[in-house]
Amino acid sequence: MAQHLAEPNATTILSDDASWWRQAVVYQIYPRSFADGNGDGIGDLKGILSRVDYLADLGVDAVWLSPFYPSALADGGYDVADYRDVDPRIGTLAEFDELVEALHARGIRVVVDIVPNHTSNLHEWFRRAVAAGRGSAERERYIFRDGSGANGELPPTDWLSVFGGSAWERVDDGQWYLHNFAVEQPDLNWSNPEVRADFVKTLRFWADRGVDGFRIDVAHMLTKDLTEPLPSRAELELIPRDGKHPLIDRDDVHEVYAEWRAVFNSYDPPRTAVAEAWVDSARVPLYARPESLGQSFNFDLLLADFDAAQFRDIVTSNLDLAALSGSSSTWVLSNHDVVRHATRYGLPKTRRDESGKTLEKAGNDWLLGGGAESQLDRERGERRASAATLFLLGLPGSAYLYQGEELGLHEVADIADEQRQDPTFFRSEGSEIGRDGCRVPLPWSAHGASFGFGADGAHLPQPGWFAEYAVEREEVDPASTLSLYRRALALRHALQSGEQLGWIETGRDDVLRFTRPGGWQVVTNFGSEDYPIEDGANVVLSSSGATDVVRGESTVWIAP
Ligand code: GLC
Ligand code: CA
Repeated sequence: MAQHLAEPNATTILSDDASWWRQAVVYQIYPRSFADGNGDGIGDLKGILSRVDYLADLGVDAVWLSPFYPSALADGGYDVADYRDVDPRIGTLAEFDELVEALHARGIRVVVDIVPNHTSNLHEWFRRAVAAGRGSAERERYIFRDGSGANGELPPTDWLSVFGGSAWERVDDGQWYLHNFAVEQPDLNWSNPEVRADFVKTLRFWADRGVDGFRIDVAHMLTKDLTEPLPSRAELELIPRDGKHPLIDRDDVHEVYAEWRAVFNSYDPPRTAVAEAWVDSARVPLYARPESLGQSFNFDLLLADFDAAQFRDIVTSNLDLAALSGSSSTWVLSNHDVVRHATRYGLPKTRRDESGKTLEKAGNDWLLGGGAESQLDRERGERRASAATLFLLGLPGSAYLYQGEELGLHEVADIADEQRQDPTFFRSEGSEIGRDGCRVPLPWSAHGASFGFGADGAHLPQPGWFAEYAVEREEVDPASTLSLYRRALALRHALQSGEQLGWIETGRDDVLRFTRPGGWQVVTNFGSEDYPIEDGANVVLSSSGATDVVRGESTVWIAP
């Protein structure tokens, strides 16, 4: 496990421990919204470089950088125009190298995002595919088909894209291409060996530059069986997702990852990877196996209510799954795709009728629109968020944190339509508000044009209440969320001496308590009534501040 070292400019102190990732705290940076080094309103590598000490003081083991590659930003950078370069608005390759060096010098590893399901429509390959015309080798890198209808004027199938609307788009000569996400994100053809070879080149390109690991975007959708006749949307829905579904979670995607694994293992220490795979839990171990990507996100906590029974079931089942794959589990409460957890937990639970139909949207469904800001109890959300975070940080496995959650930051709901950027918003014609609210640039100071994000404005509007969450304020406040995160991360390495967890009976169904190696204990009270702790217990961390009892909606850590 990497250690925290305070002095800047130290030579690298990265351990050569090949299993550093098993219990690492990985901090996700959404580069356009972290820190702006040149004052153009867009976060950049220089900005991140200027905040490396902040990351070291926070005590994270690794940072994961969301895409910083050249992109027209049709999908926040997940539309990549060139996989082996830096967007000029974000920086240069030389700055990237400098950043890796600076992070390594503080013992922080670097994970980059790989987006293999689709390229941008501005990628050189796609432009050539459109120009070269039907039947060309260039089109074989993507998924082009003739349309249906008398003159091919209708899309080949009625499939929908994840962002809404048809999954097919027509080009000038009349053919259609498949895009499971935005129109600007044509799906690649993973049966084409050229596509496979090019991604190996990309992985090597970054690994050679010192990158320690990779986060694999939509890892469950690369390979497809497009044998004619293609099924309809209704037919697709009836096909079990057991490894043979034409589009999702196919067994043959692991042939790709076996090849990647050989690449990762050719480095010392081996490069790591984590799959973003939204698949049935039972199939997660396929991605997490050491022969495949080695680790997979578990999004169960992110989808759960703040509820003891749900949390306990999720922990138990995911530790079992991790044991099956030989990997460690991962835990996530927030990322760039979902409503921040401080906000989710401050909203009433979504109400459903007996059939599961949504009656009133709130909590996790807020993203889908309809969640009124007036329903939000900010303080309660923050209280529960800190409790859930300390619970998560006490678990065996690796924790993925999303920039701003260490400030207790809330989702920004009030963004004007004309300032929104997320394709979800546009393709759903506004019925889904989209993900911009968790991507608003961070407040570093309580004053100034962009709260210290940069010299001038910010590419998404920051609300006035961001001042209360500014790093500058929280840093000097021992009761702040930031101070709590710092203390937790500093203590965590001692708590992570092994990967075992044992539940302790609490006599209450709203209180969870578990032990960790060496005698550490974590107690979370999901209810409202205080939970007493034995006299003499060595409480070293408490999300409520109280050290003699576990207050409602809080967590304490007890040291041996
Ligand atoms: C992943 C990313 C998301 C992106 C999508 C398409 O789910 O996390 O942000 O929109 O893939 O690349
Ligand atoms: Ca900038």
